[in-house]
Amino acid sequence: MATWSAPGKVFLFGEHAVVYGKMGIAMAIRPRVFVTVRDTKRPSRAKSPYIDSCFEAMGVIGSVYINSQIPSSSGLGSSAAVTVATLAAINDEFNLNKTREDIAAMAFEIEKTVQKGRASPTDTTVSTYGGIVLITGGSRRRLPPQNMHLVVGDSLVSHSTSRMVEQVADLKKRHPEIVDPVLDAIQGVSMSAIHQLSNPRELGRYMNMNNSLLEVLGVGHPQLAKMILASRQAGAFGAKITGAGGGGSMVALCPKQLKHRVAKAIESCDGRAIVTAIDTEGVRKE
Ligand code: MEV
Repeated sequence: MATWSAPGKVFLFGEHAVVYGKMGIAMAIRPRVFVTVRDTKRPSRAKSPYIDSCFEAMGVIGSVYINSQIPSSSGLGSSAAVTVATLAAINDEFNLNKTREDIAAMAFEIEKTVQKGRASPTDTTVSTYGGIVLITGGSRRRLPPQNMHLVVGDSLVSHSTSRMVEQVADLKKRHPEIVDPVLDAIQGVSMSAIHQLSNPRELGRYMNMNNSLLEVLGVGHPQLAKMILASRQAGAFGAKITGAGGGGSMVALCPKQLKHRVAKAIESCDGRAIVTAIDTEGVRKE
């Protein structure tokens, strides 16, 4: 029996733009998914296309038990975390000698196939390696970890990442003259933000700018907007949608002493708040 866990993620900057090869910055955060795999000829599996694809890709049969602290469909990368932790647990239980790089690459292929659409490798990379990851076109680089005080607000409005990605693609096709400069501007925000990762006040301003640009792309939602405004009013340095939008979650960067006040403000808008921080480890054996 082997148990492995993997963290969720927030996009600090650049969601949607990364789908078009632009730069983005994402960070692994604390809620984790725990997956236990057992080598048995009588498989009992969770009903998930991600799990089925993991066993198929590894070419083995076994049983799996999942314990997730990451709410699903919340934009916090739960499907990537499940996929990465399952691949790592299968690898360990069956002694398949795959490296972390193999697992990240296989997890990305599975995400792309199951989601049947365009996807960036952000979620699977962040879940595998942890920390802060800079995504640029095909390459990824880990940035020095920073101790940020974050509050995530889950709107509890369910959304579909692939549908939101499609919606942006559609808008881009109809209005390239508007959408292309907006994607460039998002990349501009990400590029500026890289140099301010240890300056929360400035970083918060960039998050607010990124959020306005996401609104132009049409991925906002009234519930997210309410929580974002409430967080800023409660003293957050900045707040934005994180992930695909249209529901899912927002993230606020806060002064340490105000994070519980920001969490309360989010909950008073009927969202579910998670006070969180960076996870530097990525996928790990339990
Ligand atoms: C979803 O978490 C973020 C998107 O940029 C899609 C992706 O990166 O795969 C919308």
